[in-house]
Amino acid sequence: MPQVAKLAINGNRLQSQIDELALISENGPPVVTRILFSEADLRGRAFVKKLAEEAGLHLRQDAIGNIFVRWAGQNPDLPAVATGSHIDAIPNAGKFDGVVGVLGALEAIRALQGAGIHPKRSIELIIFTAEEPTRFGLGCIGSRLLAGTMSPEKAALLKDRDGTTLESWRTQVGWADGDLGSVRLPQHRYSAFVELHIEQGPLLDKEKIPIGIVEKIAAPSTLRLELTGVGGHAGAVLMPERHDALLAGAEIALAVEQAALTSGSADTVATTGIFRIEPGAVNSVPCQAHLEIDLRDTQALTRDSALAQIERSVREICRRRGVTSDLERVATDPPVICDPKLVSLIDQTCSTLGVPAKRMISRAYHDSSFMAQVCPTAMIFIPCRNGYSHRPDEYSSPEQIKTGVTVLAHTLASLSSAD
Ligand code: GLV
Ligand code: MN
Ligand code: MN
Repeated sequence: MPQVAKLAINGNRLQSQIDELALISENGPPVVTRILFSEADLRGRAFVKKLAEEAGLHLRQDAIGNIFVRWAGQNPDLPAVATGSHIDAIPNAGKFDGVVGVLGALEAIRALQGAGIHPKRSIELIIFTAEEPTRFGLGCIGSRLLAGTMSPEKAALLKDRDGTTLESWRTQVGWADGDLGSVRLPQHRYSAFVELHIEQGPLLDKEKIPIGIVEKIAAPSTLRLELTGVGGHAGAVLMPERHDALLAGAEIALAVEQAALTSGSADTVATTGIFRIEPGAVNSVPCQAHLEIDLRDTQALTRDSALAQIERSVREICRRRGVTSDLERVATDPPVICDPKLVSLIDQTCSTLGVPAKRMISRAYHDSSFMAQVCPTAMIFIPCRNGYSHRPDEYSSPEQIKTGVTVLAHTLASLSSAD
């Protein structure tokens, strides 16, 4: 690691920017909700762009709305060093998920600038579009397109709950000039990608360790299920005649839980996070149910066998209840191994700085999962209180964030000075 003058990370400035961004939300504080293409999402993007411009950085946006904030290096033709995360937030979220890796990276760049460093390689902060799956039921849309793991044709046809396609949204928000096919990164655009993020789990907080270095990201998957039963009058349709879509869905939700509990792996987790019914009237038998199921494991093998178990349960339950099903595997992503050299570099950086660190697995998915297909990738975690995340009381202290930014800044300094 090259000697870098003591970096002046301005923790107060960073905290006040995190607080300001949190107020750009579809719900009042402490809740943060910023769903892709919402007014809050667009205002959040404008806020971050303004901060980047104020730092004298160059901005570019691609056709899916990924934002690239570039600090040009002395040799701009060398592959750049990338960092970044997301600012979209699921409904009823907190203010740190993703944001720490965006505003924290901006602070890291400002600190390196302030230290008079002139990086050899350019440093690029990426603000990824739709890491969260809320609008289209699929997460990491921006990074999937960057990595080329999803085709532009498939992306364009993604539909939200109202049936509006991604392509139509792009037109509405004025991004449709560019072709989605142009989003894919050329070979060797980046020499490395490092994402700073809150842990979203309890280990660092419990063990009082300030930094986690991610070696592996668990394998996520998502299922979407439409159930069609037979509706009718809640007073008139006798019980033996019923084909209630909600009850089929309820049994399936329990089968999802069982599939995780009996997978043989303590790392299998399964969640039915969306369950809507039609027509939604107290005196009407539910004729339609829509479920979205999230299933993960650190190993693809156990995740896949739990997935197959859920699919068998859906068939059996629907047959028995006379309900028809339309089940779609929305995504089945592999686990990701972070780059061992990059992991060692971060470890070494922590040792040099005297910051205790622990190697760990990320159970949450991240844009890093897809950036790992493009260039050597690793993640820096900071603790969050009780491991709470995806809820308004998500919390990391200013000191914890500052430590993460310090480690990130030194890591970027090392990577950007390499030949
Ligand atoms: C990311 O937000 C995830 O659900 O892991
Ligand atoms: Mn999240
Ligand atoms: Mn996140």
